[in-house]
Amino acid sequence: MSSVQSLEIRLGEVRVGYLTHYPDEKTIFSVDEAYIGMGSTRPVLSLSLSRPGDEASTEALLRDERHKFASVKAPPFFSNLLPEGGLRTRIAQSLKVHEEREFLLLAALGADLPGAVTLNPGDTPEHLRFRRGASGAAAVDEAAPLKFSLGGMQMKFSMLRQGERYTLNMGTQLGNYIVKPPSRDFAALPRVEAATMETARAVGIEVPEALLLPPEHIDALPDMGAYPQGEAFYAIRRFDRSEHMEGSKGGRIHTEDFAQVFNLRPSQKYGRVNYEMIAQTLLRYAGGLSDLKEMARRLAFNVLIGNGDAHIKNWSLIYDTPTRPRLAPAYDLVSTVAYTTHDTSIALNMAGVKRFDAITLDTFATLFARIGLHERIQKDMMEEVRVTVQRVKGAWENSFVAAGVPDDLIRKVEAHIRGIALGRECA
Ligand SMILES: Nc1ncnc2c1ncn2[C@@H]1O[C@H](COP(=O)(O)OP(=O)(O)OP(=O)(O)O)[C@@H](O)[C@H]1O
Ligand SMILES: [Mg+2]
Repeated sequence: MSSVQSLEIRLGEVRVGYLTHYPDEKTIFSVDEAYIGMGSTRPVLSLSLSRPGDEASTEALLRDERHKFASVKAPPFFSNLLPEGGLRTRIAQSLKVHEEREFLLLAALGADLPGAVTLNPGDTPEHLRFRRGASGAAAVDEAAPLKFSLGGMQMKFSMLRQGERYTLNMGTQLGNYIVKPPSRDFAALPRVEAATMETARAVGIEVPEALLLPPEHIDALPDMGAYPQGEAFYAIRRFDRSEHMEGSKGGRIHTEDFAQVFNLRPSQKYGRVNYEMIAQTLLRYAGGLSDLKEMARRLAFNVLIGNGDAHIKNWSLIYDTPTRPRLAPAYDLVSTVAYTTHDTSIALNMAGVKRFDAITLDTFATLFARIGLHERIQKDMMEEVRVTVQRVKGAWENSFVAAGVPDDLIRKVEAHIRGIALGRECA
């Protein structure tokens, strides 16, 4: 490719700026003056570029050119809009582009990204316009079957629900469910995910509608024969798509994950950030104490149920108010101890501790003290932790049996819950 190419970045109807790709493989994110000029009414693209309530710091972040360019890959905010694993490989192969060349992936999928961001050649100045399909091997194959983007490692599809049926043939509409096929590597994974999510719902965590689908309810999915035959699929309602969706423009609700908040790449989802940092962000710039209480519930839940995958891309913010986010509903809760016998730890450090069996009420108390909560509120949070632990112990088995999780996996979850220190402390 020889010429400069560019995509217009919109958040809903508002133009945020441009993503421009240069022949040396650099991609640069430039922010529009008019967007900066909106001041405190500006819809927030990312907390990495905004300090709600502090316009001077926000403007400085929007004007700061660091972190707004990358080579081959896209700048981190945009990298995080793309899939990581097999789904990325599949999309890149169908487009005939190298899977690291993220600008080209974003150009192809820009009309259906997570949240309310769109990337389009649309109103881009003529000399910067990305010409779809105009340049040899980098051409976008209009016939490519997958036109949506979703983050994460596992294979998944954004599908439209029509009564009992789910389809990829959506015309100009957007998918409103994420559908995950069963896996050859992890037996009954859709059932374990559905069971874990239902347990979370039962203990008071905010969870979108999640369900198991018989494969015959799914239309127009490529490679149907590749999945274990007859096994249930998992589906979850998308919280970034509203109930009322008119055409391709409407129906998007903005979201971002915590890799975007901290301006990190998907590959940095473990290790760079700890739960204190997420908690501080919620307190200062998102839903405050109510978010923190929900986070406390989710942490206690993850320890008890043995979910070792609560990394920064499995926590998101949702912007139902465009100028201030709150913690998004929970997703990707999986009792990973059903599959692992060693290395059983939560994904990020929690007051310096990671191993499930080393996390105690004391760990939670340290976490709440470190983020500077008033003593009375610390007590409140500790009570929430205790109650959640007790509720998980009472609720999990029903959910796992109802979801049809195989016995050997149920026994592994049971052994984990019985053995865990936090569970014994909250008898
Ligand atoms: N119900 C939902 N509504 C909107 N967005 C969602 C929902 N569930 C998941 N997502 C988004 O899709 C991404 C991928 O989903 P999910 O985390 O379930 O996939 P995964 O491939 O299992 O992830 P991982 O790489 O953590 O194993 C999430 O990081 C989140 O941004
Ligand atoms: Mg995930």
